[in-house]
Amino acid sequence: MSFNNLGFIFKHFGSLVYSKPILDDLCVFLRGFTDKESVLDIGAGTGVMSEFAYRCNDALKYTALDPAEGMLKYAPPYLEIHVGVAEALPFEKESFDAVFMGESLHHFNDPDAAFREVVRVLKKGGRLFIYDFDKGTFLGKSICRMEKLFGEPANFYEPSVLQEVLEGYGFTVQINKHKWRYTVSATL
Ligand SMILES: C[S@@+](CC[C@H](N)C(=O)[O-])C[C@H]1O[C@@H](n2cnc3c(N)ncnc32)[C@H](O)[C@@H]1O
Repeated sequence: MSFNNLGFIFKHFGSLVYSKPILDDLCVFLRGFTDKESVLDIGAGTGVMSEFAYRCNDALKYTALDPAEGMLKYAPPYLEIHVGVAEALPFEKESFDAVFMGESLHHFNDPDAAFREVVRVLKKGGRLFIYDFDKGTFLGKSICRMEKLFGEPANFYEPSVLQEVLEGYGFTVQINKHKWRYTVSATL
């Protein structure tokens, strides 16, 4: 699937995939961050997750990374944008206080390489927020099958499996399940 041509669609309709419980989790995640702490939104697309986060906390420094320039060109001006992939982040180690992945993890070709990179660019005690679809549910499984038909990596997780994976990278993990979707709030 080429996201390069989907910027307009995501800009106008991408926010509809974020339900209220997901947004509540995101705002709770951002509590306790002090002004000017830095967030990296990986697979940011048009910046939908960062836009929601900005409404909870507009004092943070937001950076968006995505391989698709056609998505990034719709990002709001307060996002510093970078073209790149999760598996090879173009940032120094310990650059960020937090990382977001909004519906993007399952698109990464190599999630393990991405998690290694997240650990590298996060500061000690840094935090990770993930929102994705639960492949253990009927809807999650259906989306997974459909994405595979489109040639996507479809690296969907069941939340308990993702929890184990992240704990293996040294994170303390809290998962909130919301029917066929879930959020992860993790601390390094
Ligand atoms: C479903 S969109 C989600 C965009 C945005 N986070 C949102 O919530 O609307 C998935 C995004 O992941 C990006 N993506 C795909 N492969 C990637 C990779 N290897 N590293 C980083 N981003 C990737 C795509 O270009 C796309 O913008």
